[in-house]
Amino acid sequence: MQAQGEVKKNSLTITDNRTGKSYEVPVENDTIRATDLRQIKVNPDDFGMMTYDPAFMNTASCKSKITFIDGDKGILRYRGYPIEQLAERCSCLEVAYLLIYGELPNKAQLAEWTKNITTHTFVHENLKKLMDGFHHDAHPMGMFVSGLAALSTFYPSAKHIESKEERQMTFYRLIGKAPTISAFAYRHSVGMPYVHPDNDLSYPGNFLNMMFRIAEPKYQPHPVLEKALDVLYILHADHEQNCSANAMRGVGSSHVDPYSAAAAAAAALYGPLHGGANEAVLRMLDEIGSKDKIPGFIKDVKEGKGRLMGFGHRVYKNYDPRASIIKRLAEQVFEVTGRDAKLDIALELERIALQDDYFVKRKLYPNVDFYSGLIYQAMRFPVAMFPVLFAIGRMSGWLAQWAEMLDDSEQKIARPRQVYLGHDKRDVPLMNQRA
Ligand code: ACO
Repeated sequence: MQAQGEVKKNSLTITDNRTGKSYEVPVENDTIRATDLRQIKVNPDDFGMMTYDPAFMNTASCKSKITFIDGDKGILRYRGYPIEQLAERCSCLEVAYLLIYGELPNKAQLAEWTKNITTHTFVHENLKKLMDGFHHDAHPMGMFVSGLAALSTFYPSAKHIESKEERQMTFYRLIGKAPTISAFAYRHSVGMPYVHPDNDLSYPGNFLNMMFRIAEPKYQPHPVLEKALDVLYILHADHEQNCSANAMRGVGSSHVDPYSAAAAAAAALYGPLHGGANEAVLRMLDEIGSKDKIPGFIKDVKEGKGRLMGFGHRVYKNYDPRASIIKRLAEQVFEVTGRDAKLDIALELERIALQDDYFVKRKLYPNVDFYSGLIYQAMRFPVAMFPVLFAIGRMSGWLAQWAEMLDDSEQKIARPRQVYLGHDKRDVPLMNQRA
């Protein structure tokens, strides 16, 4: 008798009931190659069998060594390291290095990496003119996406993506300049002068400086808020083949320059289904208004009148490990900024939902967005900046995914197939023959 889990042969036998023929397809890493199915045909001149998988629900588009997620167990690891340990022991620039190069930097490597990113935070003066051209109420994410795309025109040699030196410069520039472009977008939207980077400050500290400095000769970020932002960048740095990482890889697979590919990734993140859920959480908490309204709200959700925003995840069917870190972080931030009543509503909502059969049965737990918006708001970031903050943190993940895709000899220009269900060939009618 075969023991449970014992593997007899690493292959799959497929019988095509249309023809009665059987095919043996190799199994590697619990997957089969979709192109191995092409041999399955009814007639010799058929195209061959394809898989149909809208939204890539069950298709691996790459092999990757960057991020591991086990959604059932609530595990997230970058390069093998648990997210909890990275958030506690590392800075966001250390994690960016880890994601891109595969190992944590030693002291000298980190000093060199930090220096190179810090000295690439300034943007060309003409980029300010680009910002100035936007309408006063332009969304900062639209300005951010445009700013990234514009960088490709300032650094045309970046298109030599096979050059190690050019790639290196791209890592420094995109990680260094993303906060500068973001802060300039914000300052433009509130009609305040742009603040230049301060190279004495940390990566998150300098961002707070460029966002909020007014007339003080030297901006001093609050250490708790600076650390909170650093941790949020770590938590958002990568999440394997999500919509924006997939955009970075897909657009980058055309061998376009990395700035254009990063603009495409940021555009994907702009969508409310990807980078915008924390904003929806804040709106929901405002609508609930007070703790005594929570039971009524939960009842409505269970009756299908809306969703509990910040709950549930396509991959995590357990507590999102990032949500537990963010929850603790929120308490620390509120000690500095003052406690927002919305935090208490959120804590109570979570307590009630996690005991409720509806949520338990469906494995709905708080996700990364449940508490992150509360922290951002307490730190005085306007809601429109939330996806921009997400994008700054995610930049290192996009770059790691992009570089891994370019170095993977199996990758080609991304080009899915389709199942064509339109008209067969027909003749173009003259105008007087058309209905
Ligand atoms: N509130 C109430 N019910 C929910 C929720 C929720 N937040 N999420 C899922 N459900 C219910 C669904 O109604 C469905 O119930 P049913 O089986 O009775 O029909 C069941 O749980 C499964 O839900 P699906 O929509 O099929 O799950 P899916 O994996 O497609 O959706 C998603 C995941 C989009 C995140 C969903 O849980 C949701 O809409 N959550 C709220 C929005 C949110 O917080 N998004 C942020 C995600 S994190 C990120 O992208 C960075």
